[in-house]
Amino acid sequence: MTFDASQTAWDEKTQQFHGGQDWATLSNFVEDFSVTTNGLGTPRTALEAGRKAVDLCDHYPPANQEPAKSSLAAFLWPDSYQRNVNRLLLGNGASELIDLVVRKAPAGPWKPGPFSVQYKEYERSASTNGRPLLKVNDDSPAAIACIVNPCNPTGDYKPLNQLKKWVEANVQDGGFAVIDESMQPWHSPGFREDSMTSQTEFVADLYARRGISVYVIHSWTKLWSCTGIRLGSIVCPTEEHCQALKKIQVPWSVNCVALAFLHAVVKDEAYLHDTWTLTPRWRHHTVAALQEYFPNWLTSGEPFLSWVWIDTGDMIVAERAIQLAKQAGVPVRSGLPGYQQPSHLRIAVRSPEKFQILLNAWLPLRN
Ligand SMILES: Cc1ncc(COP(=O)(O)O)c(C=O)c1O
Repeated sequence: MTFDASQTAWDEKTQQFHGGQDWATLSNFVEDFSVTTNGLGTPRTALEAGRKAVDLCDHYPPANQEPAKSSLAAFLWPDSYQRNVNRLLLGNGASELIDLVVRKAPAGPWKPGPFSVQYKEYERSASTNGRPLLKVNDDSPAAIACIVNPCNPTGDYKPLNQLKKWVEANVQDGGFAVIDESMQPWHSPGFREDSMTSQTEFVADLYARRGISVYVIHSWTKLWSCTGIRLGSIVCPTEEHCQALKKIQVPWSVNCVALAFLHAVVKDEAYLHDTWTLTPRWRHHTVAALQEYFPNWLTSGEPFLSWVWIDTGDMIVAERAIQLAKQAGVPVRSGLPGYQQPSHLRIAVRSPEKFQILLNAWLPLRN
């Protein structure tokens, strides 16, 4: 008996749908536009480090996640990593940490960020853990509020001052605020100053004043295009909060390949420099071409982001766009499963050459 590749990979009755699964089933696969990974591809030196680590797979990975964890701390806080490293925990993708923190939060309702839709794993975890789910427009503060900033898929972004106000207004005293900054490092070389990870005083003050615990989650599988190796981190408000998460974390959840990859990749400054230079350029090209070819489609998202959220205005058009992209070997993410936005699509930012393949596939959609 062989596996039938035409089936969808997700058990949609049981699991939360995500993009990134079609590529393996397409015999003419060219490029995956359905995920928000970095269009530059996986950094070479880190990939090599990961490959070498496979040779050591007859040993357990270090239980303290070192030296990779300290390397990531030095990346996040170049001037004060020793003070902060014990507030950091690595995970098997951000997904593992999302589930840990949602499980650890005090009992009570969950609420999403203020954007029309957001990445669904927070809600999935809250729901499977039996929490009441508040709607986006519900004014009441929650026991745990989770905001994806920048927001995947809409591309909205709240600068720090607004983010802080949102946290103050939407979390109950004693509750948890979880801020997902997976896409925030794309911001610019100055991303750290605009990140909640730099706001140690605000975080400490909020905890002292109202008992609110602020966590910052990163999925590193997008920035460094390594979704297959699973790599994420969480910055906790205090060392004690971090230990509480570690206590319920499965040991060795981050494998030796992911740790070696991380230890190497944070030193690859050239890759980040290229990311900050090329992503906005490629994104601008993508948006300009879409506006020229499909003037009725609305594109949204900050100019620095690695994807474009598109509203075609018509669910039939969106469905056809998804089919055409798939047939051409360049799958895109439908807005329907999970996000329930049937006229929307999300496409990754890729080089103009690769984007041209997608654009050609969509020519039959022009009026
Ligand atoms: C905003 C956001 N957070 C978290 C994740 C989960 O990432 P990981 O692959 O690290 O589990 C994703 C993946 O798409 C994401 O977009």
